[in-house]
Amino acid sequence: MRDVAPETDMPEPDANLPATELLVCVKCLRGHEAPEEGLRPGQRLFEALSAGPAPKGVTITAVECLQNCDQGCTVALRGGARWTYVFGNVDEVSHWSVILDGAARYHTTEDGLIPWRERPEHFKRNCVARIPPPTPTQAPLKERDND
Ligand code: FES
Repeated sequence: MRDVAPETDMPEPDANLPATELLVCVKCLRGHEAPEEGLRPGQRLFEALSAGPAPKGVTITAVECLQNCDQGCTVALRGGARWTYVFGNVDEVSHWSVILDGAARYHTTEDGLIPWRERPEHFKRNCVARIPPPTPTQAPLKERDND
């Protein structure tokens, strides 16, 4: 499905950065009827993204429905203490390279915030949601009492 390597001018990521996960909704229909035969657009996107090496530090995971069905295909990026981002309107044929490039850029950040000028155009225009990193949990009261 994918016959060329993704285009990226990214330097090697810092090996100490926490892993990044690229979630891909494999149920997305992108406005089409569910095919009686063949693959759904979301599954085709997942296969295109997985057909070659992923960017360093990034794993690609198939998931079912990210609840953005009217604007699929849909992917999300998360990992470590970064903000999580959800992107829609992904074309299963033409966007795999830009998604992998965006995932590589996201992975080089500590907080998930790709500088605006470096952000792929598709990411600038198709961010469905961003979710803050988990709030650090406080130590149990007993431990705090002993401080
Ligand atoms: S089916 Fe893909 S977001 Fe719902």
